Amino acid sequence: MKFKDQIIAITGASSGIGMQAAIDFSNNGAKTIILISRNITKLNKVKEKINPDCNVEIYPCDVSNKKMVADMSNNILEKIGNVNILVNNAGFGIYGRVIDQTIEDIEKVTSTNYLGMIYCTKMFLPSMIKKNQGHIVNVASLAASFGIPCMAAYCGSKFAMLGFSESLYLELKNTNVGITVVSPIAVKTNFFDNESFKGKMPHKLGYVLDPKTVSNAILKAAYSKRLEIVVPFFVRSAVWLKQTFPYLINPIVSSAFKEVK
Ligand SMILES: NC(=O)c1ccc[n+]([C@@H]2O[C@H](COP(=O)([O-])OP(=O)(O)OC[C@H]3O[C@@H](n4cnc5c(N)ncnc54)[C@H](OP(=O)(O)O)[C@@H]3O)[C@@H](O)[C@H]2O)c1
Repeated sequence: MKFKDQIIAITGASSGIGMQAAIDFSNNGAKTIILISRNITKLNKVKEKINPDCNVEIYPCDVSNKKMVADMSNNILEKIGNVNILVNNAGFGIYGRVIDQTIEDIEKVTSTNYLGMIYCTKMFLPSMIKKNQGHIVNVASLAASFGIPCMAAYCGSKFAMLGFSESLYLELKNTNVGITVVSPIAVKTNFFDNESFKGKMPHKLGYVLDPKTVSNAILKAAYSKRLEIVVPFFVRSAVWLKQTFPYLINPIVSSAFKEVK
């Protein structure tokens, strides 16, 4: 019952990793789970899967919309109270070369994955600081450390998420409020259902995680002292190799994706 009496807000809770995390937090004693995403029908279906001992609140919101996030957060803070754990998980990718993608596609990925995380953080962090209690878990990706061809906007948003989180981590050093980034490799979710991936990316993915594995890491990340948890753990060595010998590793990444069009 690690999360007894805790109020937990999860963005992107209507499917995949966010949905699994909501279920798992509820099975570990959470008092209230706040499910956030754009699709209210899907959120209602997730609610049915959550431990009945846990109170579930549904807040439809597009996290890329600053005003919607402000309204949603103010509503939550007023009606439910201080959020103990915020999981910034909402995100998506669009596959394609920079030259072929529209500015609007790139903006949408950036404003959802990166700015959406900042909008939510800016709304919930002040009450955490005031109470000197709380934790933010940001779901990034291994794409926060590797540039992948045809995923520039996505990689950029996740690199940015990791950089922002690292700075905030240092700012919070002497407080009881924490932040931890969870960076998984590929996960079996609806992520690759986006039209742009059709017939392209998924066949490249050798080792694919179950959402439950990532959810376990998210629960571990909540109240962890670590900045980043890479999932699975042994992939951290690949990050180290890339950062230490980029001139050796980047050509390998490039050749692994050489057939992309
Ligand atoms: N699957 C992978 O291979 C993988 C690997 C590494 C990291 N990740 C990261 O894991 C996170 C969760 O993705 P997933 O794999 O679980 O994919 P998913 O099943 O497609 O879930 C994505 C979630 O994000 C929500 N979402 C998307 N845009 C949103 C917006 N503008 N406002 C609010 N919610 C929004 C979706 O809900 P609605 O459509 O209802 O809004 C959905 O609940 C993402 O940040 C992704 O980048 C995924």
